[in-house]
Amino acid sequence: MSGGILVINGPNLNLLGQREPSLYGTQSLEEINQDLESMATTVGIRIEFFQSNHEGELLDRIHQARDDFELIIINAGALSHYSIALHDALRAVNIPVIEVHLSNIYAREEFRHQSLISPVAQGGIFGFGALSYRLAFLAACEIIKG
Ligand code: DQA
Repeated sequence: MSGGILVINGPNLNLLGQREPSLYGTQSLEEINQDLESMATTVGIRIEFFQSNHEGELLDRIHQARDDFELIIINAGALSHYSIALHDALRAVNIPVIEVHLSNIYAREEFRHQSLISPVAQGGIFGFGALSYRLAFLAACEIIKG
């Protein structure tokens, strides 16, 4: 089966809910994914999820998505700020990308102000906690509908 949305989460996002809740909220990644899954079911869009703490696994998953998904929603975590490899992989697969961050990366430390995902993304949503993912999903639906 092809089409639909692939949601990718990078390093440390498996710890959501426990990790710095004042910054990242109290919802676990599983809860966030369940919310997205039920939104996808409601609108009849296929959705799959992938999380890894390893850059190479993220690259492999992006490559595999090439002929399989219509759009990628990605929170690459800290890799957003320095991974040229992720930037290149997203550019190479040539499908629309929506960048997500829970926190407002521009209101935090200076080393978070640069994103290498942004230049290869159609757009980005940041600073709304778990809501950032839901807003990204709504944008994804509009893009898919064309
Ligand atoms: C993050 C922001 C990154 O700077 C940080 O390294 C993360 C989470 C966010 O969702 O706000 O791991 O991507």
